[in-house]
Amino acid sequence: MTKRHALVTGAASGIGRAIALKLASEGCFLSLCDLDEQKASTVRETILASGGSAQVVIGDITKAADCREISEKARTWGGPVDILVNNAGIYPASPFLEMTEELWDRVMAINLKAVYLLSQAILPDMIGKGSGCVVNMASIDGKKPGPEISAYSASKAAVISLTRSMAAEMAKFGVRVNAVAPGWVGTENILKGDRWKIAVQQIPIGRLAEPDEIAGVVAWLCSETAGYITGEILNVNGGMLMD
Ligand SMILES: NC(=O)c1ccc[n+]([C@@H]2O[C@H](COP(=O)([O-])OP(=O)(O)OC[C@H]3O[C@@H](n4cnc5c(N)ncnc54)[C@H](O)[C@@H]3O)[C@@H](O)[C@H]2O)c1
Repeated sequence: MTKRHALVTGAASGIGRAIALKLASEGCFLSLCDLDEQKASTVRETILASGGSAQVVIGDITKAADCREISEKARTWGGPVDILVNNAGIYPASPFLEMTEELWDRVMAINLKAVYLLSQAILPDMIGKGSGCVVNMASIDGKKPGPEISAYSASKAAVISLTRSMAAEMAKFGVRVNAVAPGWVGTENILKGDRWKIAVQQIPIGRLAEPDEIAGVVAWLCSETAGYITGEILNVNGGMLMD
């Protein structure tokens, strides 16, 4: 992974932060994309303190203009992006009958549309180089929807489908596109609620995943060892779903 340029969205916290730190520890230099400048800067400082290299790129990935700007800033700072991790996402719960149009649109914009917009802004450079790796963050809910997360589940099911379409189109350019589908991950956001306490009882491994355990899988998918894998949706769910 040495000297590869990785751009991670949602890199300021949770799984995205863990992915950024993992890729940095493997020798990548990082463009850290998020809305939260303060938290993203803290991640950058952590990377710099351990001898790595990183820049913060603030932007709203639901907007095409921001995605073009993020891509431009990444290229200017570190050359073409070799690894794109479309990780940023939100998972608000709402009973289906109470879901507002605003909530539906927001979930679809961040979880799905942003994957399309930023990938479209970054992929031409990968195609130009004849190599690259995209990892999209899916979810077990995209395969096995439950109650009160209909918009989220639909968005992640669409990410799974989009991943396969992108993989099919990009393979001939030497660009691999995969997704990771976590179950429950013990991020700050998840642990501040109560739903995980019930959910954990359904996890065969008997605990939530650590963010590092998702990050390790993402890093492996981006490595040469996984060079023949594309269009794969990799479950990382402690045995909750085996398909
Ligand atoms: N935590 C889990 O249990 C879990 C399980 C399965 C899948 N996932 C998926 O993993 C991803 C990360 O989840 P997390 O728990 O680490 O979330 P998180 O809330 O800790 O982090 C998400 C980050 O995305 C950033 N972000 C949100 N909207 C943005 C936008 N428009 N532009 C740029 N950045 C934006 C936020 O500022 C935040 O730093 C999401 O796609 C989520 O659906 C999480």
